[in-house]
Amino acid sequence: MAIVAPSILSADFSHLYNEVKSVSSAEFLHIDVMDGHFVPNISIGAMVYKNLRKDFDMVFDVHLMITDPMKYAKDFADAGADYITFHYEAVSDVMEMINHLKNLNVKVGISIKPGTDVKVLDPYLKHLDLILIMSVEPGFGGQKFIPSSLDKVKYFKQQKEKNNFLIEIDGGINLETGKLAVDAGCDILVAGSYIFNSTNRKQVIKELGKL
Ligand code: DX5
Ligand code: ZN
Repeated sequence: MAIVAPSILSADFSHLYNEVKSVSSAEFLHIDVMDGHFVPNISIGAMVYKNLRKDFDMVFDVHLMITDPMKYAKDFADAGADYITFHYEAVSDVMEMINHLKNLNVKVGISIKPGTDVKVLDPYLKHLDLILIMSVEPGFGGQKFIPSSLDKVKYFKQQKEKNNFLIEIDGGINLETGKLAVDAGCDILVAGSYIFNSTNRKQVIKELGKL
Protein backbone atom coordinates (compact mmCIF):
# COMPACT_ATOMS: atom_id res chain seq x y z
CA MET A 1 0.00 0.00 0.00
CA ALA A 2 1.30 3.43 -0.94
CA ILE A 3 0.32 6.93 0.09
CA VAL A 4 -0.69 8.88 -3.01
CA ALA A 5 0.23 12.54 -3.39
CA PRO A 6 -1.30 14.20 -6.46
CA SER A 7 0.89 17.09 -7.63
CA ILE A 8 -1.17 20.19 -8.36
CA LEU A 9 1.47 21.38 -10.79
CA SER A 10 -0.52 19.48 -13.42
CA ALA A 11 -3.85 21.00 -12.36
CA ASP A 12 -5.78 23.68 -14.27
CA PHE A 13 -5.11 26.70 -12.06
CA SER A 14 -8.12 28.60 -13.33
CA HIS A 15 -10.28 26.02 -11.53
CA LEU A 16 -8.00 25.15 -8.66
CA TYR A 17 -10.66 24.46 -6.03
CA ASN A 18 -12.45 21.95 -8.27
CA GLU A 19 -9.17 20.45 -9.39
CA VAL A 20 -8.10 19.80 -5.79
CA LYS A 21 -11.55 18.47 -4.98
CA SER A 22 -11.21 15.99 -7.85
CA VAL A 23 -8.15 14.44 -6.17
CA SER A 24 -9.27 14.81 -2.56
CA SER A 25 -9.64 11.06 -2.10
CA ALA A 26 -5.83 11.00 -1.86
CA GLU A 27 -4.18 11.22 1.55
CA PHE A 28 -1.60 13.87 0.57
CA LEU A 29 -1.67 16.93 -1.69
CA HIS A 30 1.73 17.69 -3.24
CA ILE A 31 2.33 21.40 -3.73
CA ASP A 32 5.28 22.36 -5.95
CA VAL A 33 6.79 25.77 -5.27
CA MET A 34 9.26 27.00 -7.91
CA ASP A 35 11.07 30.33 -7.96
CA GLY A 36 12.61 30.50 -11.43
CA HIS A 37 16.08 30.43 -9.83
CA PHE A 38 16.58 27.03 -8.28
CA VAL A 39 14.66 25.57 -11.23
CA PRO A 40 13.96 27.19 -14.60
CA ASN A 41 10.24 27.58 -13.98
CA ILE A 42 7.91 29.60 -11.74
CA SER A 43 4.84 28.03 -10.13
CA ILE A 44 2.93 29.15 -7.05
CA GLY A 45 3.50 30.67 -3.63
CA ALA A 46 2.02 30.20 -0.18
CA MET A 47 -0.99 32.48 -0.70
CA VAL A 48 -2.39 30.14 -3.34
CA TYR A 49 -2.76 27.14 -1.08
CA LYS A 50 -3.50 29.15 2.06
CA ASN A 51 -7.03 29.64 0.75
CA LEU A 52 -7.42 25.92 0.05
CA ARG A 53 -6.41 24.92 3.56
CA LYS A 54 -9.80 25.52 5.16
CA ASP A 55 -11.63 23.43 2.55
CA PHE A 56 -9.46 20.29 2.50
CA ASP A 57 -8.14 18.03 5.19
CA MET A 58 -5.52 16.31 3.05
CA VAL A 59 -1.93 16.40 4.28
CA PHE A 60 -0.35 19.45 2.60
CA ASP A 61 3.03 18.29 1.32
CA VAL A 62 4.95 21.36 0.20
CA HIS A 63 7.97 20.83 -2.05
CA LEU A 64 10.15 23.93 -2.11
CA MET A 65 12.23 24.15 -5.29
CA ILE A 66 13.58 27.55 -4.30
CA THR A 67 17.01 29.05 -3.71
CA ASP A 68 16.27 30.52 -0.28
CA PRO A 69 13.99 28.21 1.71
CA MET A 70 15.13 29.77 5.00
CA LYS A 71 13.70 33.15 4.01
CA TYR A 72 10.25 31.84 3.05
CA ALA A 73 9.68 28.77 5.23
CA LYS A 74 7.60 30.65 7.80
CA ASP A 75 5.18 31.86 5.11
CA PHE A 76 4.69 28.30 3.93
CA ALA A 77 4.19 27.01 7.46
CA ASP A 78 1.71 29.79 8.29
CA ALA A 79 -0.24 29.03 5.11
CA GLY A 80 -0.95 25.53 6.41
CA ALA A 81 1.82 23.21 5.25
CA ASP A 82 2.03 19.91 7.14
CA TYR A 83 5.33 18.82 5.57
CA ILE A 84 7.88 21.25 4.18
CA THR A 85 10.57 19.74 2.00
CA PHE A 86 13.57 21.77 0.91
CA HIS A 87 16.36 20.85 -1.47
CA TYR A 88 19.68 19.72 -0.08
CA GLU A 89 21.35 21.51 -3.02
CA ALA A 90 19.76 24.86 -2.11
CA VAL A 91 21.14 25.41 1.39
CA SER A 92 24.61 25.87 2.84
CA ASP A 93 23.73 24.83 6.39
CA VAL A 94 21.40 21.82 6.28
CA MET A 95 21.12 21.40 10.05
CA GLU A 96 20.18 25.05 10.52
CA MET A 97 17.36 24.65 8.00
CA ILE A 98 16.14 21.46 9.70
CA ASN A 99 16.04 23.20 13.08
CA HIS A 100 14.26 26.18 11.60
CA LEU A 101 11.49 23.93 10.24
CA LYS A 102 11.20 22.07 13.54
CA ASN A 103 10.72 25.40 15.30
CA LEU A 104 7.92 26.19 12.88
CA ASN A 105 6.19 22.96 13.97
CA VAL A 106 6.07 21.35 10.55
CA LYS A 107 7.34 17.94 9.48
CA VAL A 108 10.77 18.15 7.91
CA GLY A 109 11.63 16.82 4.48
CA ILE A 110 14.78 16.99 2.36
CA SER A 111 14.88 16.35 -1.36
CA ILE A 112 17.80 15.40 -3.58
CA LYS A 113 18.06 15.93 -7.33
CA PRO A 114 18.87 13.01 -9.66
CA GLY A 115 22.59 13.86 -9.75
CA THR A 116 23.03 14.11 -5.96
CA ASP A 117 24.54 11.20 -4.05
CA VAL A 118 22.41 9.54 -1.37
CA LYS A 119 25.30 9.60 1.11
CA VAL A 120 25.13 13.38 1.53
CA LEU A 121 22.06 12.88 3.71
CA ASP A 122 23.73 10.41 6.10
CA PRO A 123 24.41 12.98 8.85
CA TYR A 124 20.77 14.16 8.88
CA LEU A 125 18.72 10.97 8.63
CA LYS A 126 17.72 10.82 12.27
CA HIS A 127 16.30 14.35 12.13
CA LEU A 128 14.06 13.83 9.11
CA ASP A 129 10.37 13.01 8.70
CA LEU A 130 10.58 12.60 4.94
CA ILE A 131 13.10 12.05 2.15
CA LEU A 132 11.97 13.09 -1.32
CA ILE A 133 13.85 11.44 -4.15
CA MET A 134 13.53 13.33 -7.42
CA SER A 135 13.14 10.82 -10.24
CA VAL A 136 13.25 13.59 -12.88
CA GLU A 137 15.16 16.88 -12.98
CA PRO A 138 13.00 19.23 -10.90
CA GLY A 139 11.19 22.02 -12.70
CA PHE A 140 8.49 20.51 -14.88
CA GLY A 141 5.74 17.92 -14.83
CA GLY A 142 5.34 15.25 -17.49
CA GLN A 143 8.96 14.07 -17.73
CA LYS A 144 10.25 10.52 -18.03
CA PHE A 145 11.15 8.53 -14.90
CA ILE A 146 14.90 8.04 -14.30
CA PRO A 147 15.32 4.32 -13.42
CA SER A 148 18.48 4.77 -11.29
CA SER A 149 16.26 6.56 -8.74
CA LEU A 150 15.20 3.09 -7.60
CA ASP A 151 18.69 2.44 -6.23
CA LYS A 152 18.32 5.56 -4.11
CA VAL A 153 15.00 4.30 -2.76
CA LYS A 154 16.65 1.00 -1.83
CA TYR A 155 19.47 2.79 -0.05
CA PHE A 156 17.11 4.83 2.11
CA LYS A 157 14.92 1.79 2.74
CA GLN A 158 17.96 0.17 4.39
CA GLN A 159 18.61 3.29 6.45
CA LYS A 160 15.00 3.32 7.61
CA GLU A 161 15.62 0.41 9.93
CA LYS A 162 17.43 2.77 12.31
CA ASN A 163 15.40 5.89 11.55
CA ASN A 164 11.86 7.06 11.22
CA PHE A 165 11.28 8.88 7.93
CA LEU A 166 8.99 8.30 5.00
CA ILE A 167 10.40 7.78 1.51
CA GLU A 168 8.70 9.73 -1.26
CA ILE A 169 9.40 9.68 -4.99
CA ASP A 170 8.53 12.45 -7.42
CA GLY A 171 8.62 12.56 -11.21
CA GLY A 172 7.37 10.32 -14.00
CA ILE A 173 5.23 8.17 -11.73
CA ASN A 174 2.53 5.99 -13.29
CA LEU A 175 1.24 2.51 -12.44
CA GLU A 176 4.35 0.86 -13.88
CA THR A 177 7.05 3.10 -12.36
CA GLY A 178 5.00 3.43 -9.18
CA LYS A 179 5.05 -0.33 -8.72
CA LEU A 180 8.84 -0.40 -9.14
CA ALA A 181 9.18 2.39 -6.57
CA VAL A 182 6.92 0.71 -4.00
CA ASP A 183 8.71 -2.61 -4.48
CA ALA A 184 12.00 -0.79 -3.84
CA GLY A 185 10.63 0.62 -0.55
CA CYS A 186 8.80 3.83 -1.33
CA ASP A 187 6.01 5.00 1.03
CA ILE A 188 4.64 7.98 -0.94
CA LEU A 189 4.09 8.29 -4.68
CA VAL A 190 3.82 11.81 -6.11
CA ALA A 191 2.01 11.85 -9.43
CA GLY A 192 1.06 14.91 -11.44
CA SER A 193 0.35 14.35 -15.13
CA TYR A 194 -0.60 10.70 -14.67
CA ILE A 195 -3.45 11.59 -12.32
CA PHE A 196 -4.57 14.92 -13.79
CA ASN A 197 -4.53 13.69 -17.41
CA SER A 198 -6.63 10.63 -16.63
CA THR A 199 -10.36 10.53 -17.25
CA ASN A 200 -11.04 8.97 -13.85
CA ARG A 201 -8.74 10.57 -11.31
CA LYS A 202 -10.33 8.87 -8.31
CA GLN A 203 -9.80 5.46 -9.87
CA VAL A 204 -6.17 6.19 -10.71
CA ILE A 205 -5.53 7.36 -7.12
CA LYS A 206 -7.08 4.12 -5.88
CA GLU A 207 -4.95 2.00 -8.20
CA LEU A 208 -1.72 3.79 -7.22
CA GLY A 209 -2.67 3.41 -3.56
CA LYS A 210 -2.98 -0.34 -3.92
CA LEU A 211 0.57 -0.76 -5.21
C1 DX5 B 1 8.72 18.39 -10.74
C2 DX5 B 1 7.77 18.39 -9.58
C3 DX5 B 1 6.83 17.25 -9.62
C4 DX5 B 1 5.95 17.19 -10.83
C5 DX5 B 1 5.64 15.75 -11.12
O1 DX5 B 1 9.72 19.31 -10.54
O2 DX5 B 1 8.46 18.33 -8.36
O3 DX5 B 1 6.06 17.16 -8.42
O4 DX5 B 1 4.75 17.90 -10.69
O5 DX5 B 1 4.94 15.66 -12.31
P1 DX5 B 1 4.79 14.29 -13.09
O6 DX5 B 1 4.13 13.31 -12.18
O7 DX5 B 1 3.95 14.67 -14.27
O8 DX5 B 1 6.18 13.84 -13.48
ZN1 ZN C 1 7.36 17.91 -6.45
